[in-house]
Amino acid sequence: MKKIILGIESSCDETSASIIEGRGNSSVKILSNIISSQVDIHRKYGGVVPEVASRAHVKFINIVMNKAFRRANKKIEDLSAIAVTCGPGLAGSLVVGLSAAKIMSKILKKPLICVNHLEGHIYANFIEQNYEIKFPAIVLVASGGHTQILKMDGHHNYKILGNTKDDACGEAFDKVARVLGLDYPGGPQIEKFAQKGNDKKYTFPRFGLAGETIRNKEGFLEKVGPSLDFSFSGLKTAVLLEVKKNKRIDKADVAASFQEAVIDVLVKKTIWAAERVGAKSIMISGGVSANKKLVRVLRDNSEKNKIDFYSPRTDLSTDNAAMIAIVGYFRFIKKKKLGKVSINPNLKL
Ligand code: KG4
Ligand code: ZN
Repeated sequence: MKKIILGIESSCDETSASIIEGRGNSSVKILSNIISSQVDIHRKYGGVVPEVASRAHVKFINIVMNKAFRRANKKIEDLSAIAVTCGPGLAGSLVVGLSAAKIMSKILKKPLICVNHLEGHIYANFIEQNYEIKFPAIVLVASGGHTQILKMDGHHNYKILGNTKDDACGEAFDKVARVLGLDYPGGPQIEKFAQKGNDKKYTFPRFGLAGETIRNKEGFLEKVGPSLDFSFSGLKTAVLLEVKKNKRIDKADVAASFQEAVIDVLVKKTIWAAERVGAKSIMISGGVSANKKLVRVLRDNSEKNKIDFYSPRTDLSTDNAAMIAIVGYFRFIKKKKLGKVSINPNLKL
C-alpha cells in the first residue's frame, strides 16, 4: 500500500516542505522537496539571527507547503501522515514548522510524527540504498550545530561514541570564513578557496589524534587516546593568529590548510571508530557532507578498509524536508513510538 507523507523542516534558516511516496519496507520516492533558503537574509549579519529566522519561516511556510503539493501533484486529502522536525534547533524556528504541522494534522485527522533533525540527516543516506545499509554502522554527523560519531546497531538505534567539546565542525568553517572575510555560510566558500590553495602551507592543530599524556588516579603519567571527541576552538584560534600575523596572507592557502586539518581529524576518527566496532558500513551526514574533498577522502579510506561507504545526494546533504519525511515514513510504517509532539531545541538522538 502506498503511503504519502508530508515532511516539514524549519529548525534553522531553511524553510522546507516535501512530499514523499513510500511503498513497503524499502521503496521511497521523493515527489517534491521545496527549500526556501534564508541565506541571503542572514548574509549581511554574518550568521543566523534567530528572531529574523523565525519571522522568515512564518512568511514562507505556507508558500513552500503549497509548492510542495503542486510539484508532487498531490492534494492534502492524499496524505497518510505528517512528519515535522521537533528539534534540535532554534526554538522560534522549530515552533513555526510544528504549528503548521499540527494544524494540518488536526484538520485532516492524520498522525503527526515528531522527527529528530539529526536522524533526518542520517536517513538522507538511505534514499538510494532502499533502506538496506549493513549494521553495525558508524555515522559521522557533521553539521552547523553538531559533530558526533555514532554507532548504529540497527535502524533508529544510536549510541554516541564521540562528541564535540566546543564548536561544531560546520560552525568552525563559518567562523574561519568570517576571519578570512568570506561570505556566510562559510563551508562552501572555504571549499571554493581551498581548491586554489596549498593545503600543506600551514600545519594547523588536530585535536585528539595523537595520544595525549595525562596523570592517572595513582598520579602516574599515562598515554591516552586517540580520542573520538572533537574540539575545533584551538584550530579556529590558530587560524586567527596566523591571519593576524600577516595582513596580506593568501586566503586560499589558509582555507586549504584549515580544511585539510578538519578532514584529517574527521576521517581518522571515523575510520578508527569503524575499525574498533567492526563496522560494516560508514555513513556521513549533515551539512558538512556537502564538502566534496571530505567525502572523497572518507570514501577512499572506507574502501581501503573494505567497509561500505554512504554519503547523501548533494541536494539532500544540507537542511531539507525530504529527509524528515523519510524518517517519518519509516517510523510510521514500523509503528515506532511517534514521539512527544512538542518542540525541543536540545533534542538528543
Ligand atoms: O546540516 P546543516 O545544513 O544545518 C545544520 O543542521 O546545522 O549544516 C550547515 C553547515 C554550515 O555550517 C555550513 O557552513 C556547512 O554546513 N557546510 C559546509 C559545506 N556546505 C555547507 N561545510 C564544508 N563544506 C561545504 N561544502
Ligand atoms: Zn541540519
